[in-house]
Amino acid sequence: RETAIGIDIGGTFTKFGLSDVDGNVLMEGSIPTYTHLEIKPFLDALSTAINDGLNQVHESFEILGIGIGAPNGNYYKGTIEHAPNLNWKGIVPFIDMFKAYYDLPMVLTNDANAAAIGEKVFGGAKDLNDFIVVTLGTGLGSGLVTRGKLIYGHDGLAGELGHTNVYPDGRECNCGKRGCLETYASASGIKRTVFKLLATNNDETPLRSYTYESLTAKKITEMALAGDPIALEAYEYTSDILGLKLADAAAVTSPEAIFLFGGLAKAGDILVKPTMKSFNEYLYPGYKGKINIRLSELMDRNAAVLGASALVWSEIVQNGAIQ
Ligand code: BGC
Ligand code: NA
Ligand code: ZN
Repeated sequence: RETAIGIDIGGTFTKFGLSDVDGNVLMEGSIPTYTHLEIKPFLDALSTAINDGLNQVHESFEILGIGIGAPNGNYYKGTIEHAPNLNWKGIVPFIDMFKAYYDLPMVLTNDANAAAIGEKVFGGAKDLNDFIVVTLGTGLGSGLVTRGKLIYGHDGLAGELGHTNVYPDGRECNCGKRGCLETYASASGIKRTVFKLLATNNDETPLRSYTYESLTAKKITEMALAGDPIALEAYEYTSDILGLKLADAAAVTSPEAIFLFGGLAKAGDILVKPTMKSFNEYLYPGYKGKINIRLSELMDRNAAVLGASALVWSEIVQNGAIQ
């Protein structure tokens, strides 16, 4: 069976998998990203985990290539550049380094771009040519697809919606700027919002028993689903800002749909409904009623890993090897 390895490097975990051209997953696993402060020990741990996983696949398979999705991943260069939410600063020549571990064709792109490819090949964007995928995890990533192709731009790093500005003197961002969208609309952004609400409000809520370190976006979601007013208000505040910036993005690319993916998107309607409301308020009138915001169809199927392996089918197998 012909297969591809897909790797999704995240701020907290790095997930990997082996899948075939139909999206059947033969093996999957993950390792923490954050504890590996240096790139070399990380690559050692990653390849060991992948190799262990491959040894446990009982049918025979051939690996055609490796696709990698990474924050600030540069498709043209195979590098990870100045990733604000990773420990590796500067420009990491990821593919050049990973070639020491596998003698296989490799392709790397931005993590949200990989999720967009996953949505197109295996998910809800199968019949769409113009759409945006927004990933709401540690950071906020975006994959912009127009006329069936990802936008890469001049330098290979197009689509950094997470670092567009919401408030000029707003929250400090890990990228060094202030007021970036991802400081509001992401797993870490909603945590910051919860603590801000707790500081300015006397409501009794179990959320008060958490520290910044112990509170997770997942917990906030659970609390919101259980009706906690602070958690619900945090979701409304987040959605209001997200809707505004998605309207900006829509004005740039004119998509048919916007898919939300990642930890925060697991909140479902609590996020999608108010985001859609705010989106429609800010949307250029010419687009009204033409664009819908929905959840990724691959949310529980790991779009980023499937997308990363789909890169192998779309970029290496069809177009002839690159890198
Ligand atoms: C990075 C993006 C990435 C996103 C999600 C942002 O901070 O700049 O490149 O897609 O986080 O990981
Ligand atoms: Na992108
Ligand atoms: Zn930023």
